[in-house]
Amino acid sequence: HNKTNLLVEFDYRNLREMFKIDTADYMISISGSDALRELSSPGKSGSIFFLSQDDQFMIKTLRKSEVQVLLRMLPYYYRHVHAYENTLVTKFFGLHRVRPSSGQKFRFVVMGNMFCTELRIHRRFDLKGSSLGRSTEKIKIDENTTLKDLDLNYSFYLEPSWRDALLKQIEIDSEFLRNHSIMDYSLLLGFHYRARQNLQIGSSCPESILPDKLTVLSEADAAEKDSAYNYRDGLILVQRGSDKNGSDAVGPHIRGSRLRAPSGCFEEVDLLLPGTGRLPIQLGVNMPARAEKEGKQEEGSKSLHHMYDVVLYIGIIDILQKYNMTKKIEHAYKSIKYKYNPLSISAVEPQFYSERFLKFVGTAFPQNSSNQ
Ligand SMILES: *[C@@H]1O[C@H](CO)[C@@H](O)[C@H](O)[C@H]1NC(C)=O
Ligand SMILES: *[C@@H]1O[C@H](CO)[C@@H](O)[C@H](O)[C@H]1NC(C)=O
Ligand SMILES: *[C@@H]1O[C@H](CO)[C@@H](O)[C@H](O)[C@H]1NC(C)=O
Ligand SMILES: *[C@@H]1O[C@H](CO)[C@@H](O)[C@H](O)[C@H]1NC(C)=O
Ligand SMILES: *[C@@H]1O[C@H](CO)[C@@H](O)[C@H](O)[C@H]1NC(C)=O
Repeated sequence: HNKTNLLVEFDYRNLREMFKIDTADYMISISGSDALRELSSPGKSGSIFFLSQDDQFMIKTLRKSEVQVLLRMLPYYYRHVHAYENTLVTKFFGLHRVRPSSGQKFRFVVMGNMFCTELRIHRRFDLKGSSLGRSTEKIKIDENTTLKDLDLNYSFYLEPSWRDALLKQIEIDSEFLRNHSIMDYSLLLGFHYRARQNLQIGSSCPESILPDKLTVLSEADAAEKDSAYNYRDGLILVQRGSDKNGSDAVGPHIRGSRLRAPSGCFEEVDLLLPGTGRLPIQLGVNMPARAEKEGKQEEGSKSLHHMYDVVLYIGIIDILQKYNMTKKIEHAYKSIKYKYNPLSISAVEPQFYSERFLKFVGTAFPQNSSNQ
């Protein structure tokens, strides 16, 4: 392994300590003998993505400009993730430089894999709140396709206090990025949905959409969890387990506080799913929700609403794009070339970008179902 010898590490030990990552394990994960898996790159940036064999780390090659942004922002980034333990921004664990024996040196950053979960992620979206060029051209859409804004046919209903907490945190994170003139970041959203038999098809039944009707079982009832599945629909929450083994087995980058269920006397709760251990619920991690999918609206007939019980994973990614002269020129050029409303183009100023982003997030997570 010539490569490993040439690996230069910038000092990210503090960050890893904060995220509770053991440096020895970390080095083994990213530079051990197991091959990294290359992912098809979702972006136009030309970056290459890898996933560590244990699924915990996402590795991305960086352009020079991105390295500069990261290095400059680092002390502030550190302060931000320290101040807001539930922050949704990408978790950075290390920046490394490799000079292969042949070829040019390159740098890569190691991040937490947001989708490090034993649940299968069925759909994934990269959302910016911009509509121009924001759809996926792929004909075949499967669980590995990263979909974009225009492909999003779902609204997500969260328990109201969880929704408030989520939107508030996204607002703070977005303000942090705006303060550093960062833009073009995305909300990465993935979800797992329950088996088909749990799909409900119907309409105009607002009560059943409200996730505050999530069932919370007591510890004793939870012991009977198999029978609980036999007679209950939907997602089941249980009071937080005391068994440390099962319930805390989440990715190492999962830090921050656990969510409490108002309908469970504000206890910390776990999500109980068949075939998995208990899943601790945190902001952006293992969040139970109802996804409502708009059916095709045919003339004269009522539109169908498909409802799914889903488990959501949410984070803010691609935070190393700074607004600079190049962007300004690109913006002016696009406005002229496409004759579009300049405000719908994704190269807009950070302030505006942030406002549009937040507005979009607000609509993707509506307050609750309206009576229509
Ligand atoms: C998605 O990717 C995973 C891992 O790369 C692969 O095992 C799986 O078969 C893919 N799924 C589909 C539907 O292509
Ligand atoms: C979303 O809905 C639109 C319009 O109803 C449709 O054209 C599009 O194919 C849908 N996209 C997906 C991913 O289902
Ligand atoms: C953004 O900058 C303003 C003004 O300097 C500051 O008051 C605010 O706390 C910053 N917000 C974040 C989230 O860093
Ligand atoms: C502006 O940023 C882009 C990428 O974000 C970079 O390619 C470009 O070189 C930068 N331009 C200037 C003038 O710094
Ligand atoms: C939506 O939530 C608000 C405040 O939480 C409540 O006042 C309103 O009645 C709810 N609307 C529906 C349709 O449930």
